[in-house]
Amino acid sequence: MTEPTPGKPPRVSRTEMAEHVLPNDTNPHGTIFGGRVMALIDIAATIAASRHCRKPVVTASIDEMVFLHPVKLGHVVLLEAVVNEAFTTSVEIGVNVYSENPVTGDRRHTGTCYTTFVALDDLGQPSKVPPLLPETPEEFQRQADAQERKLERMARRAKAKGK
Ligand SMILES: CC(C)(COP(=O)(O)OP(=O)(O)OC[C@H]1O[C@@H](n2cnc3c(N)ncnc32)[C@H](O)[C@@H]1OP(=O)(O)O)[C@@H](O)C(=O)NCCC(=O)NCCS
Repeated sequence: MTEPTPGKPPRVSRTEMAEHVLPNDTNPHGTIFGGRVMALIDIAATIAASRHCRKPVVTASIDEMVFLHPVKLGHVVLLEAVVNEAFTTSVEIGVNVYSENPVTGDRRHTGTCYTTFVALDDLGQPSKVPPLLPETPEEFQRQADAQERKLERMARRAKAKGK
């Protein structure tokens, strides 16, 4: 019989990334373009998912992303990725995105995105992930919210598959 996988708290996999917004990242308005932000979200979330699962992971889905404020050329885009819940073979990672003015230090929350990653075994099949062990009231709340979102996601998936 295989030993049960030990659980891990969110702090073990929490991932922070910072990128200076350069001309190649921007649109004609001089602000970062959405696709670049989505790519950074995917990267930050992949790192957090890999740190939690310690297995190869693939992006299964990225939920809706609302861009609340632009991030300007020369400013810094900050990403903070946290495991909200670990299911059987998948994890939900919440990614918060912020912009920072490097001169004044002012920070603005520019959006939050929920992503789901699936861990794979050597044959590329979904593989069990360690359970999440929340430690703070906020982490317990995020876990409960992620469980609700998973139900909604699965309902949407079933509907899409039926089409
Ligand atoms: C993601 C993938 C591995 C799921 O494979 P599958 O055979 O559909 O797997 P299952 O139906 O057994 O589901 C496995 C897990 O994925 C979750 N899942 C599958 N599709 C999902 C979706 N669209 N959104 C959220 N979770 C999803 C399931 O809920 C399940 O989670 P659980 O075990 O924690 O409950 C497969 O669809 C795939 O390889 N997709 C392409 C991934 C990819 O190329 N990503 C971009 C580059 S990294």
